[in-house]
Amino acid sequence: MVTTTELNTRAATPDGDPGEAARDDLLVLIHKALRYGLFQVVIEAGATDWTDAGSVAVLRVRWDTVEHLIHTHAGHEDRHIFALLETKQPGSVGRLGIGHTVVEHDLDRASAAMHKAFDARTPQAGLTAYRVLNSFVATAMSHFADEEPAVMEEIWSTCTDEEIAACRAAFMAEITPDDAISTYELMFPAVPVAELAELLGTVQAAAPAPLFDSLLDVAERTLTPSAWKRLRNRLDR
Ligand SMILES: [Fe+2]
Repeated sequence: MVTTTELNTRAATPDGDPGEAARDDLLVLIHKALRYGLFQVVIEAGATDWTDAGSVAVLRVRWDTVEHLIHTHAGHEDRHIFALLETKQPGSVGRLGIGHTVVEHDLDRASAAMHKAFDARTPQAGLTAYRVLNSFVATAMSHFADEEPAVMEEIWSTCTDEEIAACRAAFMAEITPDDAISTYELMFPAVPVAELAELLGTVQAAAPAPLFDSLLDVAERTLTPSAWKRLRNRLDR
């Protein structure tokens, strides 16, 4: 069974002091994965032949997966990351303007348009869905760009590493194996090979071999041939 417990990232602290130990960034990797998934689906929505049942079925699976991961990620933020912030600085979420009301509204609107087009399978419904989806992607990208530095700077300035680790463990415990795989499929091609090698090297050293092998399978089917070769070289495989 694959879990996400083994994968986290150590990011530079905001001031970039080289003498200071890097701290866990709770958002950077998942946001890279979600951005990758959204850009992928919006490009495919624009290129899909909406009268072709097979093409529409593929797009439906891709959209439903990304939509689900965005919903679950927002839930993790609300219940764990934002909750931690609020215990340290009550009113932080409102002050930072990082709440999810607008994102969730636009996501529901995009999903309704997409599902209407999946059922109608007409070029006009597809074009309408494509436009609504683009509008949601703009909302999501703006939200991620505002939220990511604001939240982590606040977390790093108010929380200990132990509190951050407990927060990560709490939301990762909610992630199903299927969702973990779906997330890695979007995350691995969205991060530098050197960083991915470092993450997988940690898993290789600490986790059972079947888990490491299953993550290598994800990497092989999602990376470009060049990136896959560079990853194998770094992992000495
Ligand atoms: Fe968010």
